[in-house]
Amino acid sequence: MLIKRIAILGGSGFVGRSLCNRLSEEGYELKVLTRNREYNRNDLILLPKLHLIEADIHDIEQLSFQLSDCDAAINLIGILNEKGNSGKGFHKAHVEVAQNLLTACKENGIRRILQMSALNADAENGKSHYLKSKGEAEDLLHDNDDGIHVTSFRPSVIFGREDSFFNRFAKLLKLTPAIFPLACHNSQFAPVFVLDVVEIMVCSLMDPKSYGKRFQLCGPKAYTLKELVEYTAKVLGLKRKIIPLNDMISRIQAAMFDFIPGKPFSTDNYLSAQTDSVCDENDLAVYDIDPKTVESIVPTYLTYSSYRSHYTDYRSEARRN
Ligand SMILES: NC(=O)c1ccc[n+]([C@@H]2O[C@H](COP(=O)([O-])OP(=O)(O)OC[C@H]3O[C@@H](n4cnc5c(N)ncnc54)[C@H](OP(=O)(O)O)[C@@H]3O)[C@@H](O)[C@H]2O)c1
Repeated sequence: MLIKRIAILGGSGFVGRSLCNRLSEEGYELKVLTRNREYNRNDLILLPKLHLIEADIHDIEQLSFQLSDCDAAINLIGILNEKGNSGKGFHKAHVEVAQNLLTACKENGIRRILQMSALNADAENGKSHYLKSKGEAEDLLHDNDDGIHVTSFRPSVIFGREDSFFNRFAKLLKLTPAIFPLACHNSQFAPVFVLDVVEIMVCSLMDPKSYGKRFQLCGPKAYTLKELVEYTAKVLGLKRKIIPLNDMISRIQAAMFDFIPGKPFSTDNYLSAQTDSVCDENDLAVYDIDPKTVESIVPTYLTYSSYRSHYTDYRSEARRN
C-alpha cells in the first residue's frame, strides 16, 4: 500500500502536533482538519507539505470531500469531558466521528486508518462514558467489512511539554497554599512519553503486521496518582502536603466539579479512574521502542514553564506587561 497523503483528525492537539512533526520529517503530505483554522494555526502551518483546513468532521459530505485526495487517515479526536452527563457528547466525539471516518474512507477507497484510543477502552465493560465510547469507536472501526486496515493505540496518560496532566497538576499545586486534597489518589498510571507514542504510530503506518492490532502503550513504570502529584511538587520545588481523599469524598468532589465550567474533574473522570491505567504488556516493544521515564523528561519542561512564569511575574512587578 502506497501512502503519500494522510488526513489527520484532531491533528492540532497535544499528540497531533508531535505526530505531524514526525510524519512531516518522514516526508508525508498532511491534511489536518480543524474546527477553527485561525485558532489552531500555531506552529503547524510552518511544516512543509502540511495543509491546515477548516472543516466540520461531523458533516459526512464535508469529511468525505476532504478525504477524497488522501491515502490514509489518522483519528486523534478525543474529549475527556462532555456537556451534561448523559454520554451523548462522548458518543458524538468518539463513536459518530469514527463512523463518519469509516464511511468517508469507504467512499474514497482509503484502506488504512490509525485510531487513537485509550487504555481500558471497552464498549461493554468500560466504567465511564469515556472508556465505553472509546471502546465502541475502536470496535466499529476494527469490525469493518470493507477491507480497511485499522490499527488502534491504547495509551495510559501521555506526557510531554504541552501535556494536560503534569502541567495541570503543576498549575493547581502552585495555586494551592500548603495542603492539596487529592481524589482517586490510589489510581495507578504508567505515563508514556508523547514521542514514544508518535514513534509507534509512524512505525505501524506502513507495516501490514500491525493491521488489526490494538497496541497498549505505557511508560516503563507505574505510579499511584499521589506519587505523581508528589513528584510534580518536588520538581517544582513546592512544599505541599498531599491529602488523599477517601472514595466517598472523591465521588462527592467529582459530582460537585461537574457543575464547574470546564469541569476540572468530573464524575466521568472519577469513573475512568476506577480502573488502573496500566498495561498487561507494553507493545512499544513490538518496534523496539525503549520507553522514556517520567524522571528523564518531565523536569525539562516543568521547570522551564516554572521559569517562564517567574519571568512573567518579574515583568508584572516591573509593570512591563
Ligand atoms: N493526552 C493523553 O494523556 C491521552 C491519553 C490517552 C488517550 N488519549 C487520546 O489521544 C488523542 C489525542 O489526545 P490529545 O491529548 O492530543 O487531545 P487534545 O490536545 O485535546 O486534541 C484533540 C483534538 O481533537 C479535536 N477535537 C476535540 N473535541 C472535538 C470535538 N468535539 N469535535 C471535533 N474535534 C474535536 C481538537 O481539534 P480542533 O480544535 O483543531 O478541531 C483537538 O485539538 C485523543 O483521542 C485522546 O482521547 C490522550
